[in-house]
Amino acid sequence: MILCKTVAELRAELAIARNEGRTIGLVPTMGALHEGHASLIRAANMENDLVVVSVFVNPTQFGPNEDLDSYPRTLEADCLIAEREGADIVFAPTAKEMYPSEDMTWVEVTGGITNVLCGRSRPTHFRGVTTVVSKLFNLAQPDRAYFGQKDAQQVQVLAKMVKDLFFNLQLRIMPIVREADGLAKSSRNTYLSPEERRAALILSRSLKEAEKLFAAGERDGKKLAEFTEELIKTEPMADIDYVEIYRMPDLSECSGPLEGAGLLAVAVRFGKTRLIDNLVLEVK
Ligand code: PAF
Repeated sequence: MILCKTVAELRAELAIARNEGRTIGLVPTMGALHEGHASLIRAANMENDLVVVSVFVNPTQFGPNEDLDSYPRTLEADCLIAEREGADIVFAPTAKEMYPSEDMTWVEVTGGITNVLCGRSRPTHFRGVTTVVSKLFNLAQPDRAYFGQKDAQQVQVLAKMVKDLFFNLQLRIMPIVREADGLAKSSRNTYLSPEERRAALILSRSLKEAEKLFAAGERDGKKLAEFTEELIKTEPMADIDYVEIYRMPDLSECSGPLEGAGLLAVAVRFGKTRLIDNLVLEVK
């Protein structure tokens, strides 16, 4: 496996692969790789000739009072995991390499899709994500790019960006990977105290109950969200940011009965740590 730290190195490596007619899979990450990322790398390895994993804690997607400075940086361990799962290249640039000019060029998806859920609590977040992911797409020119369903809104925003900007690649969305007790894997889980870690189980548990209610025939989106919120409120350590349901794929308002697919999404703080989780409800 090769570690590339500069744009020039990455381009040189990929030019060789492309000349040989090899397909390229890209797995964009912010590092602190866990089993969720490993599942993306494995999928990329199965579906492409060459796999690039980017490891870059992207400053532009963090708000002023967020965890940019404390976000875990574990490049050595990340390289071992990436290699074990079949990556050919790890691309780990500096911030200066990715953002060489102080005058920024932004890629921004506008409208409701970026204003609801995390877009409301983190107003500049998705602009940072779409900007850095566009840069990575332009650099790697992958045939396929891999993202996890845990960041459900990110996935929908990126799908819109790919469509609107005619990026010539396939987005591959992989299911949420959970701990044995149900907690969705996240690099931010490492911030949790044992008490908070236990309390955080309320997220997956209440989404599971909502899924049962839906399976039993409840189609009223608002009722499903309220039911989930009430369950989360039974955990005293849970400080709710949102518990909401939107229509897929545009994340428009979901009033009245659910049709097509709905996204039931939650964001909750446990101490200083904000966790997200979600459930897709498909009306057949
Ligand atoms: O999902 C993430 O880890 C990040 O938002 C991404 C897609 C790597 C962009 O920085």
